[in-house]
Amino acid sequence: MRILSGIQPTNVPTLGNYLGAMRNFVKLQEEYKDADILVFVADLHSITIPKDKSELKKNIKNLAALYIAVGLDPKKTHIFIQSEVKEHSELSFILECNSYIGEMERMIQFKEKSVKQGQTVTTGLLTYPCLMAADILLYDSNYVPVGEDQKQHVELTRDLAIRFNNRFGETFTVPEPLIRKSGARIMSLQDPLHKMSKSDPNPKGCISLLDDINEAKNKIRRAVTDNLGVMAYDKENQPGLANLIDIYSLLEDINVPNILEKYKGLGYKEFKEDLAEIVGKTLEKIQTKYNEIINSKELDTILDEGREYATTLARKKINKVHKKMGLGRN
Ligand code: AMP
Ligand code: TRP
Repeated sequence: MRILSGIQPTNVPTLGNYLGAMRNFVKLQEEYKDADILVFVADLHSITIPKDKSELKKNIKNLAALYIAVGLDPKKTHIFIQSEVKEHSELSFILECNSYIGEMERMIQFKEKSVKQGQTVTTGLLTYPCLMAADILLYDSNYVPVGEDQKQHVELTRDLAIRFNNRFGETFTVPEPLIRKSGARIMSLQDPLHKMSKSDPNPKGCISLLDDINEAKNKIRRAVTDNLGVMAYDKENQPGLANLIDIYSLLEDINVPNILEKYKGLGYKEFKEDLAEIVGKTLEKIQTKYNEIINSKELDTILDEGREYATTLARKKINKVHKKMGLGRN
């Protein structure tokens, strides 16, 4: 059984990326001990919206190091950089020729992002789902852990796999999305009705995994709550507090009723102070490992090994695709 997922290297990952995605990859290592797990840095995806060269380079390396810093074990999980395995682009074009423009235009993410880009929507932003399908189908991935927002792309991948298999004969495994039920959406600390995101205009709303620890703790202490003053989990009337309770619950692995019981009769201040400590400890642990690895030979060795492993699998699949379609001489 194979599990595959990736994250785009846009900015430094946030606490939301960690709790909604990265930490789940780490859990999968424990839950699926026999599975072959591939996790990659989706750098080709990130250029669908043009990026500054030196920022991109830095973010690619940061994300790779953070995968390891949050607990991915390179002995269990193959970690690699998407653009270093050329077969992703190769299969992507082939899938573009087996998909329809209408299918691409229907993708919710394309619609949302293209509105923001106005006149400068790249062709890559439109064909992005074919690249994502290539990432998944190259490796016969059975399960693809993603956030709710990526479910539609995995469903399209399934359609493309089935279409290709019907047309050219059995070639690709049809994947399934793996969406965690408890994978809460972490909201902005300043505007709890919007998701925590690096592009938040207010930096106090977002904690990045490489934030200064004291600064991060202060962001928790100053998070927007409400003036009801009652420790309760009520997303509608106390969305800020509910978000903080979610973060607490995920980081400490304590369920919400137990948290409410623990802080019954106490004020938000005590709760926030404890959460600030918890967040601080989490970041400290991640940053210690990150600092150890970011400029090490070890990181390069891990990424070289990941690239070699992925390339071997991907090459085999591309050769099969060429044969099935009648491309090349063999
Ligand atoms: P993005 O940064 O939007 O490219 O997302 C990368 C991964 O992190 C995806 O699996 C998202 O679902 C997840 N993610 C991003 N932001 C959040 C958030 N605020 N809460 C939970 N998960 C998130
Ligand atoms: N598109 C995903 C995102 O923006 C990242 C991604 C690219 C991915 N290729 C993938 C996730 C393949 C899972 C499988 O979050």
